[in-house]
Amino acid sequence: MCGIIGCAGRSEDTLDVLLSGLEGLEYRGYDSAGVALANGSLDVCKKQGEIARLQQAVGGLRGPVGIGHTRWSTHGPPTDANAHPHTDCTGDVAVVHNGIIENYEELKTELRERGHEFTSDTDSEVVPHLVEERLAEGASFEDAFRAAVARLEGSYALAAVTADSEAILATRHDSPLVVGVGDDAAYLASDVPAFLEYTDRVVYLEDGEFARLESGSWTVTDAEGRLLDKSISRVEWDAEETAKSGYDHYMLKEIHEQPRALRKALRGRVDEMTGSVDVESLAGLSPSSVQFVACGTSYHAALYGAQLLREEGVPAQAFLASEYATAPAPVDDDALVVGVTQSGETADTLSALREAHRRDVETLAMTNVVGSTATRECDRTLLIRAGPEIGVAATKTFSSQVVACNLLASTVARGEDAREVVGALRDLPGQVQELLDDSRAEQVADRFVDGAGYFFIGRGYHHPVALEGALKLKEITYKHAEGFPAGELKHGPLALVTDETPVFALATGDDEQATKTVGNVKEVEARDAPVVAVTDGVSDVGRYADEVLRVPETHPRVAPVLANVQLQLVAYHVANRLGRSIDKPRNLAKSVTVE
Ligand code: G6P
Repeated sequence: MCGIIGCAGRSEDTLDVLLSGLEGLEYRGYDSAGVALANGSLDVCKKQGEIARLQQAVGGLRGPVGIGHTRWSTHGPPTDANAHPHTDCTGDVAVVHNGIIENYEELKTELRERGHEFTSDTDSEVVPHLVEERLAEGASFEDAFRAAVARLEGSYALAAVTADSEAILATRHDSPLVVGVGDDAAYLASDVPAFLEYTDRVVYLEDGEFARLESGSWTVTDAEGRLLDKSISRVEWDAEETAKSGYDHYMLKEIHEQPRALRKALRGRVDEMTGSVDVESLAGLSPSSVQFVACGTSYHAALYGAQLLREEGVPAQAFLASEYATAPAPVDDDALVVGVTQSGETADTLSALREAHRRDVETLAMTNVVGSTATRECDRTLLIRAGPEIGVAATKTFSSQVVACNLLASTVARGEDAREVVGALRDLPGQVQELLDDSRAEQVADRFVDGAGYFFIGRGYHHPVALEGALKLKEITYKHAEGFPAGELKHGPLALVTDETPVFALATGDDEQATKTVGNVKEVEARDAPVVAVTDGVSDVGRYADEVLRVPETHPRVAPVLANVQLQLVAYHVANRLGRSIDKPRNLAKSVTVE
């Protein structure tokens, strides 16, 4: 977590670049923020709270070189003192850090014994002091920085400046960092949207590489200092995609972007006439079994994907990434491990993928972010092409992950003809648009905003959506919500159901699962719970519901996406009524780079 920004070479507006970059990175953490600008001396300003507080406090700092940071606390509470950048005893070295330095206590003790004084509770503060010691011995800034980094254990993306050097030095190990190549300036960030306004040309750093950014120039070297010939990539996202574009919140904008995102996910990959799916990066894939690893919303997409593959005759399971390595499930030689991760940077998911590598299993990154760590470490990549997602609560990326799971399933299918599914996928963007244009979600949110708790139930493909509906609601409304397979409700959770706990029941079509869900709805109705049916109206679930959220009729595999869009809207409108911080819910971060 935490976001890093750096800028070298724009003497007039370095501060503006840093502050707008931090705004673009706020999704990575937003409990405190700070900047340091070097201009013969070092000016540092840092503040507890959101970036707006830093903006008010920062005044007119100037300098050709600067670094900034937005924090998600790990070591020490969010205070001004714990905010980054951290400085050394002389105040001439400033460092920003994303990750966790595991041996910081040992380093701190050692540095204290040699007279260094610390002003924060953070692990990160050891770094400027280590740099300071080497500078005092006469080392160059670059040698001092390298020597400091050599002492660190753990995960880090680091950027450092000194009062009198016109360079930013940076490196990474298990935390993301990307260089932006401008005409006269060079940029550095944890993620591309932070500088996309200025350049779309990027250089992705690998673990152990060092970058040096100066006015209009940049170099990347390896751990031994040898110059590397790094290629420049162009990112396809444009700055407009990372703006709010008139919406009150990124989340609402991203919900409304789903039709476009879904079209992009399919473009050039499916042939409706033949029902064939052709994804270059999946060519030749024929796994004997599939294990999905993922966290949060992506885990719900993984549950859906595993079910889809099983239906296609391929043994498949979904694992919470944080548990995957704890008790490794048996895996056969021709298995495939799929990391489903929007950001491609989630530490738990990366760690599970690394476990798969250790076991010599082929890996696939199903991700939204080109050049992310998952894409670089996995054998194959399936991009979900949702475009940048800024709101912390994942919305459009879930829908695109579901489509990507279908592309994967159709590629490795041993079961039914994909033509029908492909046709349904092609209709999906239009159906999502139809639903967005005419949803009763806001009225439903109004009616049930005071619920004491919320339950979400669904069977089969609707089970992951029930989990996702509950997660979305709790993330952004801070209300208690739980999702269950509809059949499981009666085995315990039913004890919690009262006339104050709305139950959202997902039932589309009129197959056996839908019929059974209708039975479960009657059970909660008999306990006086208000029921919201999310349905295409094919079954008679609506008869037992207090409210109905309609979705267009489609293939059973595709219906969950539509049902989920209704639940996204409900969560959004409840949170809005409650005045919550929708795009940046308390305690959360979009990209969680610690385990
Ligand atoms: C965090 C976010 C969730 C997200 C999860 C996995 O917890 O708050 O919204 O679903 O990480 O993120 P990923 O980038 O791996 O999909």
